[in-house]
Amino acid sequence: MSRLTVWDAKTKAQELSTTDGAEIAATLAKLGVRFERWPLAAIPADASAEAVLEAYKPHLDAFLGGNAGSVDVLKLTPDNPNKDALRQKFLSEHTHTEDEVRFFHAGGGNFILHVTGKIYDAHCTAGDLISVPAETQHWFDAGEAPFFTAVRIFTDTSGWVPHYTGTDLAEKFPATV
Ligand SMILES: [Fe+2]
Repeated sequence: MSRLTVWDAKTKAQELSTTDGAEIAATLAKLGVRFERWPLAAIPADASAEAVLEAYKPHLDAFLGGNAGSVDVLKLTPDNPNKDALRQKFLSEHTHTEDEVRFFHAGGGNFILHVTGKIYDAHCTAGDLISVPAETQHWFDAGEAPFFTAVRIFTDTSGWVPHYTGTDLAEKFPATV
């Protein structure tokens, strides 16, 4: 189940914990973060990338709204030999030069945002779309045994390069599931 947990970054006091989709979306919208729940397509979790993109095409087209954008599908499973390196790459606070947009067809992970002195931990599960605006400080964690099939929406893959901020916030605020 999707969950949003909010803390004060300094005091670590928890200010919110909710699984209500509308409350998650409204809270994140104040940060410019788009959060939506899309109906899951009736295709297997391990469906091919083509099948995933075809199944969600109406939603993806609506999201893009005629704007330029590319889509692909990223699958990560616990038996992936690169899972630890992939985890580490995005586990420290960073920014990107373009929006980071993910839709989870299966599995999930945590997008943890650091905005105006607060930590917003968005635990995303199947059916969730999240769009983290460019230059927003954040990190991502799908745990030691990552499992997800996610659609990525992007304009330029160079936007995926993480620019690290050098803080240790990710260690202070491990992902909440
Ligand atoms: Fe990122």
